[in-house]
Amino acid sequence: MNQSEKFIGILGIGTYVPEKIMTNLDFEKIVDTSDEWITTRTGIKERRIASAEEATSDLATKAALKALENAKTSPDEIDLIIVNTATPDMLFPSSACLVQENIKAKNAAAFDLSAGCTGFVYGLVTGVQFIKTGLYKKVLVIGADALSKIVDFTDRNTCVLFGDGAGAVVLGETEQGYGILGADLNSDGSGGEYLKIAGGGSRNPATIETLNNKLHYLYMNGPEVFKFAVKAMGDTSLRALKKSNLTVNDVSWFIPHQANTRIISAAAKRLKIPMEQVVINLDKYGNTSAATIPLALEEALNDGKIKNDDILVFVGFGAGLTWGACVVKWRSLC
Ligand code: UT7
Repeated sequence: MNQSEKFIGILGIGTYVPEKIMTNLDFEKIVDTSDEWITTRTGIKERRIASAEEATSDLATKAALKALENAKTSPDEIDLIIVNTATPDMLFPSSACLVQENIKAKNAAAFDLSAGCTGFVYGLVTGVQFIKTGLYKKVLVIGADALSKIVDFTDRNTCVLFGDGAGAVVLGETEQGYGILGADLNSDGSGGEYLKIAGGGSRNPATIETLNNKLHYLYMNGPEVFKFAVKAMGDTSLRALKKSNLTVNDVSWFIPHQANTRIISAAAKRLKIPMEQVVINLDKYGNTSAATIPLALEEALNDGKIKNDDILVFVGFGAGLTWGACVVKWRSLC
């Protein structure tokens, strides 16, 4: 190990989910579905739904304030805020700038990063680079999404899958040998068609027609995303481990994007990682897009599962298509 090498780790974490819970039984009342179908096909039992007044930056702000407290860091110390989201409050200004104002991080630069459900992994890797180069010391990386605002609640293929939430981490220099050891990021725009919101951008600006054709809602070809995800999660995890000079046998906890338990278990099987080492909490939150990994990480920490020196693999996939993984050697936050 090069003694002058900088190690960048998670100094604090915070999450937030809206109060309102929507169960599978609630969906039985509005679309042709059943608790049995949703549970067996996805693993989801309930999800959180933001109120009419709550937008993504509100969820992100609450998670960010908790992460700052957990990291014993004042807002003034934050040099950069990255909000990873597919559901920004508006096209511009960025949700990151809205968070910057809300938390009064007066010394911070701020931008949004769009990598769909891979957002948290992309954001983490991006944040690390700014600290490695010496440009910044502390970066706030937030995965936040309010997918309930962009799903069609008459489309049973998509509406049952998603929920709202946010997770934030403060990144900074950590002890030698700990923190983010290696990562792997990927994209394949040829699969962009499988998961998109076609309306409201510069391709199809919002009109009465785009609204009537429901182009402002999330569209997904579920089976195509499913096939892609299983292979992608395995491949990128292996590459990230290799870049960290580690193997699957070194992994303590696999913390995957929470979209579907069948995807997670198929990916774990490909990697030969036992399910006892996989963190799953999508039964409670559904797919919260960029928020799933920090929500799962914090829950595993609170449950006392993660110990010092554990090797964690965060792995995500999503719109773009994008996918990626990040290997972390854990060190207690305080
Ligand atoms: O985070 C990245 C974004 N998304 C994902 O990761 C999701 C990836 N995809 C998936 O998780 C799965 O593909 C789904 C859960 C979306 C669907 O599961 P599937 O096993 O691939 O089912 P399917 O789409 O092939 O549909 C099977 C049947 C269809 O009926 P027919 O055509 O066989 O009669 C669907 O219409 O299930 C039907 N179906 C439903 N039935 C009851 C689809 N949604 C529902 C529903 N309730 N909510």
